[in-house]
Amino acid sequence: MENTNTTHRLLIVVASVREGRFGPVVGDWVAQRAREHGGFAVEVADLAAYDIPLALPAASPKYAGADYPRPAGMAALTEALERADAYVVVTPEYNHSYPASLKAAIDWHFTQWTAKPVAFVSYGGAAGGRHAVLHLENVLTELHAVTIRDGLAFPNYFTAWRDGSPLDTEAPAYAKTLLDQLAWWAGALRTARETAPYPG
Ligand SMILES: Cc1cc2nc3c(=O)[nH]c(=O)nc-3n(C[C@H](O)[C@H](O)[C@H](O)COP(=O)(O)O)c2cc1C
Repeated sequence: MENTNTTHRLLIVVASVREGRFGPVVGDWVAQRAREHGGFAVEVADLAAYDIPLALPAASPKYAGADYPRPAGMAALTEALERADAYVVVTPEYNHSYPASLKAAIDWHFTQWTAKPVAFVSYGGAAGGRHAVLHLENVLTELHAVTIRDGLAFPNYFTAWRDGSPLDTEAPAYAKTLLDQLAWWAGALRTARETAPYPG
């Protein structure tokens, strides 16, 4: 299929905005794996860098198109989501789900994610953030995104990481499998979007 061997525009979304957060450590490691993979032009969107209010406009972003009244401090995030062919969401687990910062960022957008693949890298306590990922798979389906089966989860990250890397020597190989699947979907879905408008 066309496009499967080309460079895909990958956006890595760092979900946590908490003071003293661990998220950027995981985000940096994932970005490094993606650059080494060779199939992606890699960008990182750290949600802490944008203005993402909780109060939404009256209209739905699904139908408002480019006229949707987003804050100026969100524009770079919207543009990054728009130009991406694929996403990796890096998320912790808060109360058996994902952080409110990420839900707010998702709810300010819609069409940017449509017919594009999303992979997950999660971290947390015993469950390694898997509760957060299960919720995200559900939510992102509403936006017509395609979630990738192989995720990377880091349980008890506070003992499982040292000097910016996981101690699990298998982790880079798991990351490569995830990125291989993401690249395949990125190419397939980009070809599909270019061939015919998505009916949704
Ligand atoms: C509000 C809150 C709720 C949390 N709930 C959970 C949880 O349900 N499961 C879990 O494994 N860890 C939970 N944790 C621990 C987080 O996984 C841990 O604090 C992690 O560092 C959060 O990622 P961050 O540092 O990037 O924000 C919670 C942390 C916070 C701040």
